[in-house]
Amino acid sequence: MSKILGLFLAVTSSLALGDKITFKLGGKEVKSIDTSELAQHAIQTKVFEHLSEAEATYQAVTFREILESVYGAHWGEAGEELLFTCADGYQPSIPLSIFKSNKSFLALSKPGEEFKAITIKDKKSISLGPIYLIWENLKNLEIREKAGSIWPYQVVAVDLIKFKDRFGKMAPHEKASPLAREGFLVFREKCMSCHKMNGEGAPAGIDLNRPVPKIQMYNPKSFEKWIMEPKALRPETSMPGLMATDPKAAKHITPLLKYLESMAKSTR
Ligand code: HEC
Repeated sequence: MSKILGLFLAVTSSLALGDKITFKLGGKEVKSIDTSELAQHAIQTKVFEHLSEAEATYQAVTFREILESVYGAHWGEAGEELLFTCADGYQPSIPLSIFKSNKSFLALSKPGEEFKAITIKDKKSISLGPIYLIWENLKNLEIREKAGSIWPYQVVAVDLIKFKDRFGKMAPHEKASPLAREGFLVFREKCMSCHKMNGEGAPAGIDLNRPVPKIQMYNPKSFEKWIMEPKALRPETSMPGLMATDPKAAKHITPLLKYLESMAKSTR
């Protein structure tokens, strides 16, 4: 009986939505899917919801299955980044690599509740629909730490793009190695908020590639030391060291240096 009731609720709430989600590839529309169509494949999924900082249950579809049905079995090679468009025009983008190694869902509703989250900080009620990107994170703490940056809500469109479409002159070259591409993600997460690359990035930041690539100005050991622990070289600096801010700093330094080296080959 409760199963039948659950099904009934799922169907009625999805009918009430009836929004369309647009899927694009490099800016061109590939498919538009009605949320009521998605709802037919939804399952109940429990995650740790970061706005409310509490566990929450959603009616949601496995995102990977959607990516496969929209972009084909080789969706993982069709682009490098997923650019989301939210109802208010906000456009966060998330590297595709995170979707390959973690499980995410498109949440469509909350069973028996309004599709909202109440923020823990200021008790604000945030409407999440038509789509909320959620992550399987009850055991996966690494993904839980990423929190806000990868949970867009009120999503109305998804675009599978290349790094260069979004990041222009900061993006690694087409021929850059996989390690250098991984390093680009480290640069974005750890450096881009304060630095420029080829004229783009933080407006007031020092450019790491222009006019002369910084990686060519120092010997490799002291360059690495600077990134890991800048205060050891210049105690008065305000730059935070990678070592102090990231427990996995050692793992990230090689890809980061590969990215900076590959960018140094041309200051475009
Ligand atoms: C919170 C801001 C901030 C972040 C984040 C940051 N830096 Fe810096 N960085 C600075 C500032 C400020 C300077 C100027 C240093 C000084 O003179 O004290 C600097 C200088 C540098 C220099 C030039 C040093 C020189 O003497 O020419 C390099 C290279 C550098 N940063 C690389 C990086 C890399 C790589 C990352 C990411 C892992 C990074 N920075 C993250 C603020 C930051």
